[in-house]
Amino acid sequence: MRTTRMTTTTTTTPPLLLLLSVLLLVSVSAFVEELDDSFMETRAADDIWLIKFYAPWCSFCKQLDPVWHQVGSELKSLGSPVNVGKSDATASSGLAKEFRVRGYPAILMLKKDVKYNYQGPRTKDGILDFANRVAGPLVRSLSSPKLFQHAMSRHDVMIVYVGATSPLKGNFTSAAEELIVHSYFFSAPRDVLPKEVSLPSLPAVLVFKDGTYSTFNEEVDGDLKTWINRERFPNFLKIDSFTLYAMGETEKFVLLALVKKGLCEKSLRFKNLVEKLATELRETYNRFFYFGFMEDSDYIRGLVMDDVIIPSFIVVNLSNDGYFLPLVAVETEHHLQEFLDGVLTGSIQAQGGNGAIQRVRRFIYDTKTTLQPVFSQAPLLFCFLVSLPLCLVTLFCYLCLKKRPSAYDDEDDDNGDGVLLAPSVGRRKKLTEKKID
Ligand SMILES: *[C@@H]1O[C@H](CO)[C@@H](O)[C@H](O)[C@H]1NC(C)=O
Ligand SMILES: *[C@@H]1O[C@H](CO)[C@@H](O)[C@H](O)[C@H]1NC(C)=O
Repeated sequence: MRTTRMTTTTTTTPPLLLLLSVLLLVSVSAFVEELDDSFMETRAADDIWLIKFYAPWCSFCKQLDPVWHQVGSELKSLGSPVNVGKSDATASSGLAKEFRVRGYPAILMLKKDVKYNYQGPRTKDGILDFANRVAGPLVRSLSSPKLFQHAMSRHDVMIVYVGATSPLKGNFTSAAEELIVHSYFFSAPRDVLPKEVSLPSLPAVLVFKDGTYSTFNEEVDGDLKTWINRERFPNFLKIDSFTLYAMGETEKFVLLALVKKGLCEKSLRFKNLVEKLATELRETYNRFFYFGFMEDSDYIRGLVMDDVIIPSFIVVNLSNDGYFLPLVAVETEHHLQEFLDGVLTGSIQAQGGNGAIQRVRRFIYDTKTTLQPVFSQAPLLFCFLVSLPLCLVTLFCYLCLKKRPSAYDDEDDDNGDGVLLAPSVGRRKKLTEKKID
């Protein structure tokens, strides 16, 4: 149909109109705009932008390309106010600097001169959720019980302010400004909340998750932002390396079931055991632990610097890269509970960590894991690559050593100059002979 309309246009309208319609078509199909250093001057102040910074050589950036196109087309077709762009950070370094881009690909959002950094998984759904959350109001108001129920059904975690304007509301808004990259923030009058929610006083801040809720208590919980940052994860969840990294800030331990992708029977049992404990003993362990399962164990393998058994249990302390393993095989919920108690009381020793020795080990491990695939794919090339610098270093050392004795012995230097590859043993012998003389 579109083709027919195009042809009629060609025959009946002047070239200028044709050009305009072509331009319109192009701009509609370009879901993603390429941005350069002039962007900050030319954009409209109220526009909201979602921008991907990339480098031409970066393979992770290339993997993101199709996802980015989908994100652009979906936001456009939904009529979202979010503009989608991308910028080659090597070509437009001014813009990348403005956004403080440190690694590629970087995903940032610009709204009212505030920049929001996306750190979640690089999936279409993850990025779209982030874009919609940040583009919307900072604090969403829930004015009726029906709206509240609707929001509850859509979000795993809801952070809600209840009450009139107060200094606490100021803290709540400033926490939202920073943490909206992770969570949804709401405000609601008291009578909108379900009847069974008991509130000793107003104003109050609550987090609804895992089918229950908890209330912020300044005396026990301290700073509101820190509390929200700790509470913003569901009690039990599927964890990827991005989430794990984000959890590190909160100084809680994470109990993980490391499971096989697709969950074989044994994996499923391990996962369920953690979920059961997380639910039934929430009150006991919630303050100290997050609970979850992880399908991709690359991150943990790097942390442990060894192969990991799948399925298995591990507790990690991300603030110092430490980890704990159960002393006995965990078969029941009771065993698992003993494992957690052992971690808390210190009867199970922490392993790993980020001390000097561990860092050296990690460096060696990283080098090894980087080189191993090269070796297995092309052993000859590998030997050449490794032996070349080795030869050069040996030659260099040799030349240095050869020069050194000259300071003590001019005569020896004269002799040595002519023989480029004289073995060092011979030289030592010569020196000792001299001493005997
Ligand atoms: C609220 O913010 C003020 C100023 O930043 C801070 O001193 C106070 O501790 C905060 N209160 C809570 C409950 O977070
Ligand atoms: C994790 O390690 C850090 C640094 O050693 C320590 O301060 C922190 O208490 C540990 N985390 C927990 C939850 O114990």
